[in-house]
Amino acid sequence: MRQFLGIVLFIIVGLITAISIGFSSLIPSLPYPYDDEQDGLGEEIVIRFSFVVAENTPKGLAAQRFAQLVKEKTGGRVKVELFPNSILYNDHDEVKALKNGDVQIIAPSFSVISEEVSDWMVMDIPFAFANLEAVEEAFNGEIGAILFKKLEDKNMVGMAYWSNGFKQMTSNKGPLLRPADFKGLRFRILPSRVIAAQFAILGAQTESILFNQVYRSMESGIVDGGENTISNIYSKKFYQVQKYMTLSNHGYLGYGVLMNKTFWDGLPYDLKALVQEAMDEASVWANQIAIEINQKQLEELRASHLIQIDELTFEQKKDWMSTLNGVFSEIESIIDPDLIQSIKELQHKYASLPPEN
Ligand code: LMR
Repeated sequence: MRQFLGIVLFIIVGLITAISIGFSSLIPSLPYPYDDEQDGLGEEIVIRFSFVVAENTPKGLAAQRFAQLVKEKTGGRVKVELFPNSILYNDHDEVKALKNGDVQIIAPSFSVISEEVSDWMVMDIPFAFANLEAVEEAFNGEIGAILFKKLEDKNMVGMAYWSNGFKQMTSNKGPLLRPADFKGLRFRILPSRVIAAQFAILGAQTESILFNQVYRSMESGIVDGGENTISNIYSKKFYQVQKYMTLSNHGYLGYGVLMNKTFWDGLPYDLKALVQEAMDEASVWANQIAIEINQKQLEELRASHLIQIDELTFEQKKDWMSTLNGVFSEIESIIDPDLIQSIKELQHKYASLPPEN
């Protein structure tokens, strides 16, 4: 009996196999669409990088360079996807998105980071940096290291500091040459208590406004002026809605390039090293290109005569500096004293005024 059942089973299996092989060419294959996302599935790691400025800015170009270097160095195993112009997140949302892991890298301005970690305010102290050498020393020295350390328990890792440039004052009410010229005006600011204190000392009011709304707020007169770098003023065409620009170099706009810590800790060791290498190379390049972009665009703005450009005399700059020194007493109690001390030392080391005239 057992033998008989075995033979029947054998015949059934044989028949099924023969039918499926014999007729397989007649069964139409399913029309699966080609999906390049499936290529090497499980191998490619995607880093989403969100930022608020345009692609033709120091940060935009640095991000592109980083993406290219990551691709080259990892042989395509890691892909950096760029989301410029606040298309994914604006300056208000980007830090939260990073902490949640919705994106893996952002490069917010120091002011935006200071909303999360208040010690970062130290970078916005007016006239903290007399020149680019001082900025570089802050990035690469103790100040930069302390600030990165303070990010870690917020699930963020500091990968690099990127430069934009010194900030200039703009207005559509009149030239800003003396502290008294600010009185009664309203300025757009980044969310920063230091910057709010800076304008309060000058007798001006402030409005914290998202970067992608600055043009409109200047155009509609919600604010009379603002402070930004040449490259941002140029790339976002703020010169169309501001009549005067003072080359004050009173503050520095730079960025902390921040990675989601959980993501970073989970990257395989070899890829981590290559991504960091790409970041280091991109940063050296970016910090040089930032200087060139700001210089070139200043020349273009000068030649265009679209905005009146004023420079401060020795006396005027001295006046700004001593007035704005008052910011220290406003913020000293809310910033790590070691950082305040380091900034004061840096100010002392590089203190420089324009030549007396
Ligand atoms: C601004 O909001 O003015 C800047 O921080 C934008 C940027 O990221 O350069």
